[in-house]
Amino acid sequence: MERTYVMVKPDGVQRGLVGEVIGRIERRGLKIIALRMNTISQDQAKKHYAEHVQKPFFKSLIDFITSGPSVSMVVEGKNAVAVMRAINGATNPVNASTGSIRGDLALDTGRNVVHASDSPESASREISIHFKDAEISEYSRIDEICIYE
Ligand code: RTP
Ligand code: MG
Repeated sequence: MERTYVMVKPDGVQRGLVGEVIGRIERRGLKIIALRMNTISQDQAKKHYAEHVQKPFFKSLIDFITSGPSVSMVVEGKNAVAVMRAINGATNPVNASTGSIRGDLALDTGRNVVHASDSPESASREISIHFKDAEISEYSRIDEICIYE
């Protein structure tokens, strides 16, 4: 099983889309093993988006992601990284498939509602930025026998 880090960004929280995002993750069969709402710090945000430090949109990205409460999750399941990226859809919502979160619910790259790690390596790095080991719950979903062959 693979783990990934998922965030409902401040725009998603303000728009009341937390339940919508969580519902899609749960219905797909993925398991939420950690969950928290908080306003992330500048320090956390800069670590989280370190790969974009040289990009022209870096400052606005950091300012926005720290502007209000967001919801952080660790999500686990078979191919969780790739499946979550598909659930979210393309970075620019104009290119996101209908049926994805961004394709159904967003219009602008800078207000694209959700984040998910782009590789297993990014996932473990991001999970350690946002969660302590003790905040992660290991459990079985009772329907796993129906989700996995
Ligand atoms: P995320 O990290 O937020 O899940 O998004 P992503 O992998 O699909 O896209 P990434 O390239 O990592 O970009 C991170 C976030 O930066 C904002 N962005 N703005 N103005 C721009 O050209 C631009 N490009 C990216 C987006 O909010 C994107 O989600
Ligand atoms: Mg990214």
